[in-house]
Amino acid sequence: MEMKECVIIDGVRTANARAHAEKGWFKEVTPHQTIGAVYKALFERNPKVKPEDIDVVIIGTANPSGLQNDIGRIAWLVNGLPDTVPSQTVQNQCPSGMIAFMDAARAIMVGEADFVIAGGAEDMEKVAMGSGMVIPDELWDRYSPFEIPMGYTAEKVAALYDISRADMENMAIYSHKKAFAATQAGKFKKEIVPIMGKDGDKEFLVDRDQWIRETLEPEKMAAMKTPFKGEGRVTAATSSPLTVGAAGLLLASREKADELGLSYTYKYAFGTQVGNDPTVMGMGPELAIKKIFEKTGLTPADIGTYEINEAFASQALACIRQTGIDKANAPFDRVNTWGGALALGHPLGESGARLIVTLINVMKTDFPNEKYGIATLCGGFGNGVGVLIEKV
Ligand SMILES: CC(C)(COP(=O)(O)OP(=O)(O)OC[C@H]1O[C@@H](n2cnc3c(N)ncnc32)[C@H](O)[C@@H]1OP(=O)(O)O)[C@@H](O)C(=O)NCCC(=O)NCCS
Repeated sequence: MEMKECVIIDGVRTANARAHAEKGWFKEVTPHQTIGAVYKALFERNPKVKPEDIDVVIIGTANPSGLQNDIGRIAWLVNGLPDTVPSQTVQNQCPSGMIAFMDAARAIMVGEADFVIAGGAEDMEKVAMGSGMVIPDELWDRYSPFEIPMGYTAEKVAALYDISRADMENMAIYSHKKAFAATQAGKFKKEIVPIMGKDGDKEFLVDRDQWIRETLEPEKMAAMKTPFKGEGRVTAATSSPLTVGAAGLLLASREKADELGLSYTYKYAFGTQVGNDPTVMGMGPELAIKKIFEKTGLTPADIGTYEINEAFASQALACIRQTGIDKANAPFDRVNTWGGALALGHPLGESGARLIVTLINVMKTDFPNEKYGIATLCGGFGNGVGVLIEKV
């Protein structure tokens, strides 16, 4: 059978809220409601596609336990969608939402599916990072237990690649500045599905990301303590915050999309997974970007823009420097031009899908003549992922 093309019909997300029991705007919202809002919005925005048309729903989450147990399926059912549509939950740490997207695209390309919803959801307050996880002793024999936790990997990358605290803080400042400017300009309106949340006791429609700061005080940032390592460089300001959110995309085979008269601008072109030493897992995007170039023959000159997850400023900056895809310091011209996870937040399993949703929005809005865009992120235990999107 001939390989099909997988086109991207639409992509949406909820706002990202702080994962905080008192301050978090989604403190009373469940992951079933966030990803449910994504499902509903995709059907409302694309009325020609009915829930029954979906061949499979694939949702990533980094911690599929408690409220996030089989989140893809249970959220589909609790939101009243047809039980005849199968769904699955994917776990691959932070890349979960991107792996869901790649699985969906591949199913369409080999002809197993015509319509797929792929996405990710995470509530890091109600299902804490790493909760319930049991690490076998053999892993501690192979890698130091002090070097596996995420914050420690960020410190190790900062030291190995000589990323100064000042450069990380500068990156965080620009991440917020760009995210704030994009929010003010209404650019995220095309991708954020507003849902009800609470600020204290006050209910309101949450249509913007909670963590973005309008003003930053460099002196205050420079004085912040380093939570992961006594003599370290990484702070809460240069780490992505604990966050809540969901994102999803509607994908279709090009022929079915044409049959229904659906419009689309981009297709899935290529996806790659890379593995590396878990103690420097943050370098995943460097390897993923290099592997995309190696396997496709493209070069940085071919890429319009990149969305690189800012799990930590240290690893995102080291990846940008190691690949040479942009300047050595923020502000960047082609990377995270509407800000990154340092400002937008990083709800683990959601982010892989959110990066693609934002990449498409950024490309359509600010890089309409560019053919290619790349979204990539690192993952705990050393699994990195990257995807290449192509204008059709
Ligand atoms: C770094 C980390 C430990 C901090 O957690 P925390 O101590 O609970 O703190 P918060 O994120 O709530 O931030 C602490 C304070 O610093 C403040 N702060 C953060 N950035 C700031 C900045 N740029 N300027 C001033 N204050 C700042 C926050 O506002 C907060 O104070 P508030 O509650 O009064 O608003 C946590 O965010 C973390 O673990 N992040 C990484 C998550 C991760 O590993 N993800 C996976 C990546 S692979």
